[in-house]
Amino acid sequence: MKHVLSMTDLSKEDILDILETGEDLKEKRIKGKVTDLLKNKSLAMIFEKSSTRTRVSFEVAMSDMGGHSLYLNQRDMQIGRGETVADTAKVLSGYVAAITARVNSHSTVEELAEHATVPVINALSDKEHPCQILADLLTIKEYKSTLEGRKLTWVGDGNNVCNSMILGCAMVGMEIAVACPDGYEPDDDIVSMAREMGGKVEILRDPIEASTDADVLYTDVWISMGDEGERDKRLSDLADYQINSNLLDVAKNDVIVMHCLPAHRGEEISAEVMDGTHSVVFDQAENRLHAQKALILKLIG
Ligand code: CP
Ligand code: NVA
Repeated sequence: MKHVLSMTDLSKEDILDILETGEDLKEKRIKGKVTDLLKNKSLAMIFEKSSTRTRVSFEVAMSDMGGHSLYLNQRDMQIGRGETVADTAKVLSGYVAAITARVNSHSTVEELAEHATVPVINALSDKEHPCQILADLLTIKEYKSTLEGRKLTWVGDGNNVCNSMILGCAMVGMEIAVACPDGYEPDDDIVSMAREMGGKVEILRDPIEASTDADVLYTDVWISMGDEGERDKRLSDLADYQINSNLLDVAKNDVIVMHCLPAHRGEEISAEVMDGTHSVVFDQAENRLHAQKALILKLIG
């Protein structure tokens, strides 16, 4: 049994395998071929925060493969009335084949994993968002054919998605440049871990310098779930870190623009670029489904 709380819970081989299976499952779905690889298996999905893509892609992944998913909003669970995370993990393990959880604090997925006897998947925490990065790598592979040696530039807040992207890039041999203002850097331990794995990680202040010759430009919201109280400060601090045509001009001619979504046009990305010809954001969103199917199969198939 394996938990996936961080990108580093997967090996490079696991990641490449998931991408290959994801591509295969995508092709099968397009051809209308159904699989029942998860017949009679259930996935519990605990959500402490909002979600469109993660929730729907996990639910559809399970139903496409003949399994079942249970959306568990913490407000409706006994956990919201004081039942412990440990007891919840033990109880759910008696019913389902795996648990996925979107949590406020990373320690909650760690606690679930400590007490569950089935695999636990991090569906976003304040620290990481590994499921997103699997879909992103699948998308980059589709558009660029190869991952190794590609340069991804992250522009904006060095947040949970950025942390997982730094690890993901290091693991598959991609270079990453992060352009962020002072105080918005990704976590130090993540950057150190990526560098120890041999990853090329640059943390820069100038978005133009960081975006030069990029194969991929990537951004995420300036105000993540939980950061709402800092809205005005964040809008002001991050104002110069928008993906717009100035950055496209210095990136490679065939650069792709990515965003994990939801997007705020006019904040972290200009409307022109978000809806322009370099943007692959909706393919990227679709790939959440295919990559997660491959991940679930790896864990409980
Ligand atoms: N990218 C992502 O995780 O989207 P949701 O918050 O809609 O799940
Ligand atoms: N960084 C964002 C990602 C949303 C998918 C957040 O945590 O809200």
